[in-house]
Amino acid sequence: MDILFHMHGEDAERWRHELARRLPDARFRVWQAGDDAPADYALVWRPPAELLRGRHGLKAVFNLGAGVDALLALLRDDPDMLAPDVPVFKLDDAGMSEQMVHYAAYAVLRHFRSFDEYARQQQRACWTQLPTREAAVFPVGVMGLGALGAEVAQALVALGFPVRGWARSVKRVEGVRCFAGEHEFDDFLAGLEVVVNLLPLTAETEGILDRRLFARLARGARVVNIARGGHLVEADLLAALDAGQLSGASLDVFRDEPLPPDHPFWRDPRIDVTPHVAARTTVAASIGQIAERIRSLELGHAVGGKIDLGRGY
Ligand code: NAP
Ligand code: GLV
Repeated sequence: MDILFHMHGEDAERWRHELARRLPDARFRVWQAGDDAPADYALVWRPPAELLRGRHGLKAVFNLGAGVDALLALLRDDPDMLAPDVPVFKLDDAGMSEQMVHYAAYAVLRHFRSFDEYARQQQRACWTQLPTREAAVFPVGVMGLGALGAEVAQALVALGFPVRGWARSVKRVEGVRCFAGEHEFDDFLAGLEVVVNLLPLTAETEGILDRRLFARLARGARVVNIARGGHLVEADLLAALDAGQLSGASLDVFRDEPLPPDHPFWRDPRIDVTPHVAARTTVAASIGQIAERIRSLELGHAVGGKIDLGRGY
């Protein structure tokens, strides 16, 4: 079996090594420009179109991340790139939910316990004890209750917050008050102190973090965007911060990545910027999941994690 690999900037040898442990008979090759030889499976992150276009023998594409927006954008530009019967799979958690839990918990606690304000006070050698708040009356919302959002929501429940979650379909997540669909969106948002975004970027969710959403939150709320930069309307965020409707934002993802040096977010004390690191792809867990799926596909069994191309995630 031939496995084609492409992930710019990654040490491909680690992937080769992990794959050899699990699928010892597979031939692993790193894609190079001009390589148009057949392959059974493609393991890719943001591949060039020529890697996939007309590739003979392809049985499946594995996206080496949870978000498939970049891959689907390629397919939209070049609909014949992939034969319609070739399934595309995303990573389902594969070591990312633990990282997301850490990021979200830090961002929520930083706001809830006023650690951001204490950091500013320290710069002025200012010793002022701010009022304490009760977790039980500090509602936190998680947008997206998939592989990552559901775990984040449950971790926030464990920290004592009343947690709401929002998805497209009706969900059950223990301890979380779940809302579904557009018609329940406003009720989900009403009075949230923090909203954490873990939606996929699709035509329906593009620009969802906008002025209308911010206006539904509690005054002085915080926005945590750890999904995609395309979810956020940047001008609306700055306006909501200036108006005091929001007190801050934790942003890991941006419309332009890397965030340009002259972008106002870099120097805005109300905004925490991280360079798209909320959850990194972990080699061993990802290869473990992919190898398991390849074995099932080879046996003709049903396999989870398949992307619905029409839905966009
Ligand atoms: P997932 O398993 O596909 O879950 C997506 C969730 O979003 C599902 O609960 C889905 O609802 C919900 N959803 C989708 N469209 C919706 C809509 N229009 N309205 C309401 N809910 C909607 O995705 P995941 O693995 O949790 O990953 C989520 C996203 O995190 C990725 O797409 C990626 O953009 C981002 N991410 C970022 C990083 C980072 O480092 N910053 C790392 C990994 C992932 P249903 O359950 O009803 O289908
Ligand atoms: C990273 O952003 C991912 O989608 O896995």
